[in-house]
Amino acid sequence: MRLVAILISISLVAVLAGCIQQESGPQVRQIESLEAWKADGIVGPNEYSRSMNLHKPPSNGYFGGDLEVSWKNDAQYLYMALNGSTKGWIAMGFEPTDWMKDADIILAAVEDGKAIVEDEYSTGNYGPHSDDTDLGGTYDILEYGGREVGGNTVIEFKRKMDTGDSFDKAFVSGQKVPMIWAMADTTMHDAKHNMAKGEGVLELQ
Ligand code: HEM
Repeated sequence: MRLVAILISISLVAVLAGCIQQESGPQVRQIESLEAWKADGIVGPNEYSRSMNLHKPPSNGYFGGDLEVSWKNDAQYLYMALNGSTKGWIAMGFEPTDWMKDADIILAAVEDGKAIVEDEYSTGNYGPHSDDTDLGGTYDILEYGGREVGGNTVIEFKRKMDTGDSFDKAFVSGQKVPMIWAMADTTMHDAKHNMAKGEGVLELQ
């Protein structure tokens, strides 16, 4: 009887441990970045020091898709590449407080062969996400570029770690930055994400 009770307890602990086990995030690849950064829409093999693939399968009205995020930073600047499986818009939002609210959003697309990178901020849970300049802030993307490759859109951009704009989140070296991301199959900026949406963490150097 005692043995049965012990076995049940052990199984219960094992099951609970499985339930509360932390969901492992995407694998972050790390290399030494030896290549100079260029906003040309080509992600060089050594251009960024960290990268990860964010994947969402089709579900609940979303087509599903992949977003490859590559980044590197020094004390002053953050450099990032977003390679998404869409010809529509791609977005990343830093440090939301709730759903999309208060996210410092980069929304980008390639339109007529030209990269467009918006510096935005979401004031509500489901937007609106307005240009920082419309909210009294400043446009703080220092350089950007991008191109469409096959069915993918590749965007590269550079910003200051701390832009000084209250509609941009300020980063410091070594910080773990919570972020959200989303993609649509259209370049219309106000169209809701229909490819994928998700969240993650960017660990800075
Ligand atoms: C373009 C206009 C946008 C509209 C109209 C919109 C609308 C919405 C709505 C209604 C939801 C609730 C859940 C759902 O219906 O799927 C949602 C959730 C979400 N949105 Fe957006 N969104 C927009 C742009 C963005 C952008 C640019 C991002 C990324 C930077 C984003 C990231 C997310 C995420 C991650 C969620 C899920 C939040 C959670 O589950 O906690 N959205 N959005």
